[in-house]
Amino acid sequence: MIKLAPSILSANFSYLAEDIRKVEKAGAQLLHVDVMDGHFVPNITIGPPVLSCLANYTNIPFDVHLMIENADDYIEKFIFKNTEVITVHAEGCTHLHRTLQSIKALNLKAGVALNPATPIDVLDYIWNDLDMILIMSVNPGFGGQNFIEAIFEKISQVREIIDRKGLNIDIQVDGGIKLDNVKKVIDAGANIIVAGSAIFGAEDVYKQTKQFLEEMNK
Ligand code: DX5
Ligand code: ZN
Repeated sequence: MIKLAPSILSANFSYLAEDIRKVEKAGAQLLHVDVMDGHFVPNITIGPPVLSCLANYTNIPFDVHLMIENADDYIEKFIFKNTEVITVHAEGCTHLHRTLQSIKALNLKAGVALNPATPIDVLDYIWNDLDMILIMSVNPGFGGQNFIEAIFEKISQVREIIDRKGLNIDIQVDGGIKLDNVKKVIDAGANIIVAGSAIFGAEDVYKQTKQFLEEMNK
């Protein structure tokens, strides 16, 4: 199923719940939450206390993208009624297989994120343990960057492997996705689209979310 996951990194943090309601009402299926620690990436964002509050205001499922060091120590802190998937970076987990097992043991979907320069063969021995692959199309840390064109080929390669193996793994793409390239990302093989600045930077967030969904399903 094709899904839209607006990234709250670009939302108005003073009116976070209101911004989230707009995308939820417009039909976005997931809420992408960028957690940054100032170590794994050069930026600091939000963490469990904020999500704990938001869980009281919305029913949209949380898609938690951890861009932090020592992710294993924090996974349990991201369990809320809304949490559906937790994604860790291949580059940040020494014992990636173990980390995925601990996410799944909590009855959550487990995702692995790959930075633009990370080859897909890091997934070679964990294909059967994955619910989602997050292909980064910008270097993580900030919203509003440009989509790296070389990533189209990576998306197609991951799609080809998943289909050949007959696996049920979502392909999420994150970074630089706008109304004018979202369809191309889907055609390359993605089925979950993350969009931050393109959605929350719009004048009418509700209308823009609707337009994204329409474009994605063309
Ligand atoms: C970047 C984050 C993204 C970011 C995307 O490290 O992982 O989720 O919010 O923002 P845009 O859509 O503006 O590139
Ligand atoms: Zn993200």
